[in-house]
Formats: sequence, C-alpha cells, structure tokens
Amino acid sequence: MCGIVGYVGDKQAVGFLLEGLSKLEYRGYDSAGIAVYDGQKIRVEKSVGRLASLQDKISGNMPVGTTGIGHTRWATHGRPSDINAHPHTDCSGDFVVVHNGIIENYLTLKEELIERGHAFKSETDTEVVAHLLEEVYNGDFVSSVREVLQRIEGSYSLVFMSRRDPGTLICTKQDNPLVIGIGNGENFIASDIPAIINRTRRTFILNDGELAVVKKDSIKIMNRRGEPVTKKVFEVNWNAEAAEKGGYEHFMLKEINEQPKAVRDTLSQRISKDGQTITLDELKWNADYLKSFNKIYIVACGTAYHAGLVGKFYIEKLARIPVTVDVASEFRYRDPIVDENTLLIVVSQSGETSDTLAALKESKRRGAKTLALTNVVGSSIAREADQVLYTWAGPEIAVASTKAYTTQLILFFVLALYMAQILGTKKPAFIADLIAQLKNVPAQISETLSDVEPIKTFAKRYGFNEDVFYIGRQLDYDVALEGALKLKEISYIHAEAYAAGELKHGTLALIVEGVPVIALATQKSVYEKTLSNIKEVKARDAVVIGIASAGDEELSKYVDHVIHVPVTDELLEPLLAVVPLQLLAYYAAITRGCDVDKPRNLAKSVTVE
Ligand code: M6R
Repeated sequence: MCGIVGYVGDKQAVGFLLEGLSKLEYRGYDSAGIAVYDGQKIRVEKSVGRLASLQDKISGNMPVGTTGIGHTRWATHGRPSDINAHPHTDCSGDFVVVHNGIIENYLTLKEELIERGHAFKSETDTEVVAHLLEEVYNGDFVSSVREVLQRIEGSYSLVFMSRRDPGTLICTKQDNPLVIGIGNGENFIASDIPAIINRTRRTFILNDGELAVVKKDSIKIMNRRGEPVTKKVFEVNWNAEAAEKGGYEHFMLKEINEQPKAVRDTLSQRISKDGQTITLDELKWNADYLKSFNKIYIVACGTAYHAGLVGKFYIEKLARIPVTVDVASEFRYRDPIVDENTLLIVVSQSGETSDTLAALKESKRRGAKTLALTNVVGSSIAREADQVLYTWAGPEIAVASTKAYTTQLILFFVLALYMAQILGTKKPAFIADLIAQLKNVPAQISETLSDVEPIKTFAKRYGFNEDVFYIGRQLDYDVALEGALKLKEISYIHAEAYAAGELKHGTLALIVEGVPVIALATQKSVYEKTLSNIKEVKARDAVVIGIASAGDEELSKYVDHVIHVPVTDELLEPLLAVVPLQLLAYYAAITRGCDVDKPRNLAKSVTVE
C-alpha cells in the first residue's frame, strides 16, 4: 500500500508533489521519490526513509518543471532503499512510473525484458512496467500504455510520465484506488483524497480498468476498450482527517473493511495459475529440509500469538508436524529446548516487537532455522530471520490489529498446505479443493462485512455489561481468544475466552443471569459438543450470541441471537468468524465513547520489554 501523486499545470510541480506525499505518508513511509520534467529531461530524486529525508536531499536544489509524479512507499517486492524507491525508469530515462499494488507476473516479464537487452536497477516488481513501456512504445503514448496494461497482471494504480509527450500524465487502476483532482489550468492525481483536498474538492474517482489522459486543461477518460467514458464529478465534502481514513470514522473500521483486499493481496502469487498447488517462491523448501526438523515453535505476542495458535492447528492438521506455540515474553526466559533441528516461526505485524525479536535472536544463537511472518519489509525481525514470508496487508495504523491477523492466518494456511504438498501428507485433489475454497475467502469476508446492523444493535444492547465471555472449541476457541482481546483492548470491558469444554471446570461459576456469552459454533467436527456447552450456559440464564455458518438452523433454538457467516471449509472459518467479533468490539467501544484507534495504556508497536 503506497501513496502516489501527480501534477500537471502551470505551477512548479514539486510544491504539490511534496505536499500531497506528506498527506499520504500514513499509506507507507519507508522511502519516497519524485520525478519532474524540466522541459528537456526528467529528473528523478528518491530517498530511503521518511519524506523528510527526500526533502533534505533536494532542499536548495529543487527539481524545476510543471509536470511531475511522486510516491511514498510501503515495500512489498524489494527492501526499502534508494534504488527500490519509486519513481522507476526505463533504460533511456524517457519513461517514468509510480505504482501502488503488486504486478504478479513481473518475474516472467523481467526475464523476457532482460533477454531483450533491458538493464534493471531495482528489485521491485514496478520497474518492469517502465521497461515494458519502453519496449512497446510506438510513438503514441496512450496506445503504448494500453499495450503495457494488456501484458501486466495483478493489482495496481499507476501513473506514467514520458519525456516524449510533455505535459501529459496517464493514469489507470485495477483493485487499488486512484482519484483525479480537477483544478483550473492544472490537474492533480492521487491514490487518495487527502493528497488533493487542499487544492480542489472536485474529483473524478476512477473505476477498475479505466485509463485517464491528464493534461493541464483536459482530462480524457476511457474504458478498457479505449472508448470514451463520461464521468460525474464527485464533490468531496470530507474534512482532511476523515479523508485520511477513507471516509471511515476510525482507522480500525477502515482496516476491518480493507480485509478482503489485504487477504487477496497476501494470496496473490502464492497459488499456481491452474489453482492446484501453492507456490512459495520465497522458501523453495523440499522434503529433506522439512524432515530435518524434529519440532516447530511458533512464537509471537498478542494478536500475532493468536494467529500462531491457528497456525499450529493448520500445520498439525495438514502437514502432521507437531508444533508448540509460545508467548514470546515467556519463551525467551524458560530455557526452551531449541537446537539445529528446530524450526522457529515468529509472527509480528510490525516486525519490531522486542520480545519476539529477542526470542528470534536467542533461537538463532542456539542453532535453530528461523522463519518470520511479518507485514513490514525491512523491519528488524525481517532482517534477523533466515527467511521471511510477508503479509501484504499494507500499513496497519489502529492499535487494535485486524487485517494483520486475517492475513497472518492466510499465510499460515498457505504455509501448511505447502508443507503438506512437499511431504505428501495430503492428496493433491484435497489440496486443490482447499485452494478453491481459499480463493473465495476475500469475497466471503466482504459478504460478512455487509451485514453490520445486527452487530451494532448487540453492541448498543450489551455494550455496558461489565463482563463478556467467549466460548468455542478447536479453531473456534482460538478465534474466541482474539475476539476477547479485541473487546478488552478497545472497549475496556472485561472479556475472557474459554475452551467451551473447560467451562464446567470452574468458569461456569461466573455465568449468571444476563451475562453475555459469545458462542462460536462454526467447527462442524465438534458442533454437537459445542451445542451442549451452549446449553450449559443458557441453563444459567446467560444471554448467548451464537456465531454459526450460514444454513445452520439448529443453533437459533438454543441461543438468543445468531450471526451467520458464509459456509467454507471449517479450517477457513476463523477468517470469517473473526470479522463479526472485530465489529462487535468496534461498536461496543463506540457505544462506550472510547478512543478506538488509540486505546489507553497501549502502543501499536511494543519495542520495549
Ligand atoms: O507487531 P506485532 O504483531 O509483533 O504486535 C504484537 C502485539 O503487540 C499486537 O498484536 C497487539 O496484541 C495488538 N494491539 C492486538 O490488537
């Protein structure tokens, strides 16, 4: 998730480019860059680090020119560095491009282009777009860009600038946002509205597949077939703060709603074209490598630890390798049995959590092989681990982790299938069937997100209770732990999760009339058992909200309310069942007037012990 901007007009482009990028730093901030056409050539300036580093670099020698593009990066392919920062250029320096998203077939294209003599400078997927434009350029900027778009696969918003076509920017999008700001004698392009609202509130919001040719006094929009599109002007009436949150009231709600895309992005390039197998090019493991481990540890904190619990379930179920999950702050002090036959998997959204990093270092010191699952390219944990798998969730800003959790689950699922594939613990047809269901998950999360009204009602009704209990068995229990953590950290309601079968060993004493119990019952293999635990709490007059798969008519006979989530394989149900729990926590916090994005006493990244 990166921020992109473009300017064409009569003023010096650099002014808007730097201003726009400063409003987009929340989308990514590991490097920044701009390209400005000075009437003769395109000058590109880039710098690793925050936008301030770029500003320092060019202060006193600002690029001059009235057409330009800019970018603030959140790395996916290639670590944060000056070279990997955007804009990217072709060999001649005549074409420059900024990009937000992932070009899925970039490796194939890169090989082809290298064979044809193109010299690449960066490790990014984006650079292929600039070289491809150079390769196919036929003297007509628009038709050449359209040809590029036919060759690339993936998700993107892109802005192109060419020295051969001064005063013209071309932009397009697929599965990533792009907006054009309409000015007087000048026009603006941005990935998000905050970048432009100081300049104009009149915009065109591009749809997938549309391409716009933007000059200082004209904007021509066409569809995939090249036919002109007439768009309505969208007047932005959000204030700057709301615009930054994409119109949502809080970053947490925005990030909950970004989950379909985050999951889709994290899956991209990890499933073979025919949909039959998992491709983890980052790892390239074989059976001998996997068999060299006599144990796997998963170590993490908070939400990432909860994702690890689901990861253990997946790996044990699919790859049949025993896994121990540990809280990082405990693991590091208990003299764990770790040696060269251990695979340590650490999970961390930020890649900076101090306890997780320390556990990683200690395990390496003892000879373990290490794998990190993280969201931040170039983070301390990513650099320290032997191997890394990235969640491509984009920056997570709210303290309460949401899209990081679902993408961590996706990575664990993909990893477990990959291990099963290598070890032959599951038949190819079984794996292909799970992959088919996995591909439906983004759409199913969207479906779950569309039914929010009942959740708001429950939050209003039960938002002032002192205690809430979450129960479930197997994966439902793991999700219950995450649901309870979400509720307590942002609404300050005392919330606890219990393995449903454990209730009668103590907790049942706390269940009295009117106490809300959230009961997860998505796991078919233990459904009857869960139902009998639900009857136990109902018999003590608890108010029970059930979470069940669509089509489950049975549960409603025993609970007060049911929230249904779409049907999928029970292994994938956590990805859907967690969504209403995130929303319930969010709306409960709103009901109680809590500061959702910045809960008391908590920090986004815990870099101290
Ligand atoms: O950045 P990390 O994933 O390593 O962070 C771990 C925890 O601090 C984090 O998940 C925390 O529990 C969240 N605030 C939970 O929503």
